Amino acid sequence: MTKKARIAVFVSGGGTNLEALLNAQESGKIPHGEIVLVCASNPEAYALTRAKNHGVPGVAVSKKQMSQQEFEQQLNKHLKDYQIDFVILAGFMSILSEEFVRQWTDRIINVHPSLIPSFCGKGMYGLRVHEAALAKGVKVTGATVHLVNEIPDGGRILLQKAVEIRDDDSAESLQRRVMEEAEWLLLPQAAEMIALQITSDKV
Ligand code: GAR
Repeated sequence: MTKKARIAVFVSGGGTNLEALLNAQESGKIPHGEIVLVCASNPEAYALTRAKNHGVPGVAVSKKQMSQQEFEQQLNKHLKDYQIDFVILAGFMSILSEEFVRQWTDRIINVHPSLIPSFCGKGMYGLRVHEAALAKGVKVTGATVHLVNEIPDGGRILLQKAVEIRDDDSAESLQRRVMEEAEWLLLPQAAEMIALQITSDKV
């Protein structure tokens, strides 16, 4: 088999999506890729403990007390040191500049907890997305995995999965179900899609 694509996962918090990716990898669902680095924007992120428990190196790069440029220089240094082929944003809450995104064209994917183009854009992240869906009264929501590129290709969609909204849902119960029924399934699938593409390009 050709060399596996080397994956970095960027996280900021609990890291349940990271856990889903690591479990998928361990059960052979990402045969063309390997998660070799976890990068947290917050040194307290529980995701770093999850990485350690799975034997994957973790680093923290906090934006506090540094410029955007320094922050991204540090990220890029880690990506270079670990010879990363592509990056998965799995609940990564720090903004990345257009320049960074350009350097990694077609090499960054993100999971968003709604069916894009609904409930996305500025200020829409985490629980807020589910609060907005409930406030609107939609009956179906879901999750989207998309490429993070410059406009016009900005958010080319790779995978989506719908999740039903129940009458008694709270933002918290909806968030949990969207993760269980959509995010945790889509991310490993998308990781394998990109890894397969990168490894076949390498041949
Ligand atoms: C997930 O619900 C993810 O979709 C969301 O943050 C959560 C991270 O959870 N991401 C966004 O809102 C990005 N716009 P996790 O740390 O347990 O994986």
